[in-house]
Amino acid sequence: MPGLYSAAMTSTQVLESPLVVGRDATLGLVKRHIDDARSGRGSLLLFAGEAGIGKTRLIRAALRQAATLGFRRSKGDLAPQDLLVPLGSIADLARSMDRAEFGDLAADLLAMKGGKGGDSLASRRILVHEISDRIVAAIDKPTAFAFEDLQWADELSLEVVGELARAATDLPLLLLASYRLRRHGARHDPDSRDRPAGSARCRRRRP
Ligand SMILES: Nc1ncnc2c1ncn2[C@@H]1O[C@H](COP(=O)(O)OP(=O)(O)OP(=O)(O)O)[C@@H](O)[C@H]1O
Ligand SMILES: [Mg+2]
Repeated sequence: MPGLYSAAMTSTQVLESPLVVGRDATLGLVKRHIDDARSGRGSLLLFAGEAGIGKTRLIRAALRQAATLGFRRSKGDLAPQDLLVPLGSIADLARSMDRAEFGDLAADLLAMKGGKGGDSLASRRILVHEISDRIVAAIDKPTAFAFEDLQWADELSLEVVGELARAATDLPLLLLASYRLRRHGARHDPDSRDRPAGSARCRRRRP
């Protein structure tokens, strides 16, 4: 039956198991942070480690877990070229916001990003505060934001994430972030951001 056969072959789907292997302690930590955020004491969880060690996997698991407990969520992704894009991480976070859940927040953030104010040091700080204040004002229910691959974030995005982390302690706001560290033994590059403050490193799983 050629008709049936070709119909079956044209439909492809990638299925990924949500199982996170060997990370029970970290998942337990994530659960505690989700519970704390739900009761209004949010935080920033930063997963730092080498490429492929499972940072994205953990962030996805954390977002899924938060969603089952009623959190709305959004995620900002970055690529290497975004280092040169002012507020790239925040723009991507805004773009992935569901309007039904976040209302005008995404549109407001994208409009602020496109506005003036990023040139002098003082105006940069004003812009960072305007953006973080707008986000904070919208956190009236449990919310999880993920910032992936912050090693490629521009300075303004990092400043906004820093302000949100400060504010999160009094809000139902869980911030998740990933940061790729260089391979052990790689040549030191003085320009690379390889030591983020306050990072919780992912340790390699035992075989
Ligand atoms: N604990 C784990 N359990 C199951 N699969 C895992 C685990 N950790 C990593 N993986 C799998 O290994 C691959 C790489 O993981 P992942 O993409 O999360 O790494 P990463 O640390 O985000 O890497 P990068 O720095 O390149 O973004 C993926 O296919 C992921 O599903
Ligand atoms: Mg990743």
